[in-house]
This record gives sequence, C-alpha cells and structure tokens, in this order.
Amino acid sequence: MKPIEIAKGIYDVGVNDWNIRDFHGYSTYKGTSYNCFLIVDEKIALIDTVKAEFADQMLDNIARIVDPRKIDVVVSNHTEMDHSGSLPRVMHRIGEEKPIYCSKMGAKNLSKHFRQKLNFHPVGKDEELHLGSRTLSFMETRMVHWPDSMFTYLKEDRILFSSDGFGQHYAGYEKFDDQVGDEIWYHAKKYFANILLLYAPLIRKLIATVKESGLAIDMICPDHGVIWRKDPGAIIDAYDRWARQETEAKAVVVYDTMWHSTEMMAEAIAAGIAEEGVAVKPIHIRSSHRSDIMTEVQDAAAVVVGSPTLNNQLFPTVADILTYMKGLKPLGRIGAAFGSYGWSGEAVKLIMTELEAMKFDLIEPGMKVQYVPDSENLDACFAYGRQIGEAIKARRE
Ligand code: FEO
Repeated sequence: MKPIEIAKGIYDVGVNDWNIRDFHGYSTYKGTSYNCFLIVDEKIALIDTVKAEFADQMLDNIARIVDPRKIDVVVSNHTEMDHSGSLPRVMHRIGEEKPIYCSKMGAKNLSKHFRQKLNFHPVGKDEELHLGSRTLSFMETRMVHWPDSMFTYLKEDRILFSSDGFGQHYAGYEKFDDQVGDEIWYHAKKYFANILLLYAPLIRKLIATVKESGLAIDMICPDHGVIWRKDPGAIIDAYDRWARQETEAKAVVVYDTMWHSTEMMAEAIAAGIAEEGVAVKPIHIRSSHRSDIMTEVQDAAAVVVGSPTLNNQLFPTVADILTYMKGLKPLGRIGAAFGSYGWSGEAVKLIMTELEAMKFDLIEPGMKVQYVPDSENLDACFAYGRQIGEAIKARRE
C-alpha cells in the first residue's frame, strides 16, 4: 500500500503493529502504530523511525516515494526504541554520514543505545533546519516521554510532530482522528494515564508554553495512533485538563477477592456511593488490566481499594495495582480501603498506608469484615460508600 500523503509532499511512512498486546506492561488490545514521516522538499527529511523489526517495512514504504538513499537528514525526536530501534539500519541504508537532528540528551542517549559512531547533530536553541520551501524548528519536551524527547514543528504547513505526546496505542488504516471518531479519546486518555501522568507538572508547563507561543497548529502528528487534524486544540486542551488532574464526580472501587467476601463488600460500598448520585465503577482486578484501571483512575475523584488479607499481606494483585498507581502519581484523590479477612486482617491498614503515601485524603478507618459479611456488615459497607460519595460531592460544592 502506498504511504498516505498527509499534506502535500509529506508522507506517513510508519507501520502498524497489529498484534502487540502488551507494550512493556500496558495492554494494547487495539495494537499500536509506529508513525514516522517523510518530508519531500529540496532536501528530504525523515522524522523518526520505527521498532527494529519493522525496519524493512518502513524502508519499503519510503522506497515507494523516493529512493531511501536520497534522504538528506533524519530527525530523532525520542530515543526509546519503538521510535529509534531501526535507526542503525536506516543510517546504513541512507548513508551513515547523514546528520541525525536530535536534542542534546538525545545525542547522548542514542549513543548509549547503539554504541556506534553516527553523525548526531544536537539542535541548538532557536535552531532551524531549512529544507528548501519548508523550515523545521525544534522544542525540547523533557520527560514527554524521556529526558531526550523533543517536538519538531514544520512552520509552513503548521504541523507539529509530537513524538509520544498526544499519542494513542491504536493500529488502523484510518490515519486521522476524524476517521475513527470518539473511540480514539479513550485510547488518548489511557496513553496519558499510563505513560505521562507522572510528568503532569512538566506537561502543564509545556502546554502553557505552547499556548503562550501562539504556535499555529493545523495538524498534530504523534508517533503512535492517529493524527489530530479535526480540532488539534481539543487534544491540547485535554492534556491541559489531564495534567491538572481534574477529576469528575466519580469513584472507582478496585478490588480482588478470594471467596467473594471482599467482592460483596465492594458491591455494597459501590451501591452506597451510587446512592449519593455519584458515578461509580467496581473493578475486579483480575478481570481488568492494570492500564485500564489507571485510565479509570485518571478522572476519578475517589479511589477505593479492597483486598483480602493473604499471609498477613495484601493480596498480590492489589499490591501490584497500588505499586503501579503510586509510580504514576495521581494526586488529589480521596482514598478509602476495605477487605475481608480470616484472623489477622492487615490488608486494610496496608492499603491505607499506600494511599497515604500517594497523599490521598483518606476516609478512615476503612472497613474490615471477618470472614463472610452478614447483612449488618453489608449495611455498614453501604454506609461507608455513602460517606465516600458525600466526600466527593463536598469537594465539588
Ligand atoms: Fe513511544 Fe517513549 O516511546
């Protein structure tokens, strides 16, 4: 298939990775794409590459437009190997003397990945690259997603090549947001919640810089998923909201269970929250991937966690999600804990300790039930749920 011309003389020469289902621990049930872009002007520039095993496919895509040896310059916006893995192969094909434009940190990090002498050109502040009728400029975007990350902007076409920023793990022949519709927003939110949330303070600054700069943007081309062209400002505004950690009147009740007792508690607590008119989603951890749970946490005002006590500890899947969540640094949530136990019952306290470490506002002391809850216990869980729902509503008044 001939690569899509996304604008005159600009081609998406990337690839779809239809079958990937686990992207270093993130569930990619829609696959993903590694986008890269060829700009054909007096000089020919390639922006980013793809994962190593897709190098041939990408080079074939390029060859349908131009002989790859005619590429004059490569821009590497990000070192992570889903975008740079095929760089040595590409350079071998196009000529190892050709310059690779990257950030200063990119030059260091790419060297440490590929351990070979390539012609890295760290871009200076305000540096421009003239391709003929077009001009590229560069913007450091540290930690979106690695310290080496940068955006590249094509002035005349008003296109922002944003690397991981604004991406979604989504494979498809549809290359534009308007061809997919609203479904894409879940994938964009999931990407932010699982890849970028912990860098929210830096992203807020970046968004403010982009907005203040008045940069005209007609199209945002991330390195994963679809291109934003319908209303590029909408995804920028969504990043602003997500980076501010704005939440909705919503709770997630995340739990695991051994003999359904903690599950009974989860449902009674969720019913209590719903009774207060607050949206609530009970999520059984082993029925849902941790990256989908984090997507729900992204806009939830309260995170309620339930675990049985096993060997005096948290149930292992609950420890897993708490560790994962803590690393991603959701802030400003209400936290609550519950669980059934047999004789020692440490789990609720251990959950509270983790939620406190995340600086959540706790609804203490949590809810513990020995063995199987009776109707009185379930009434108490329902009341605990109502208390959580009230706390969510109080915050929004
Ligand atoms: Fe898509 Fe940070 O790599």
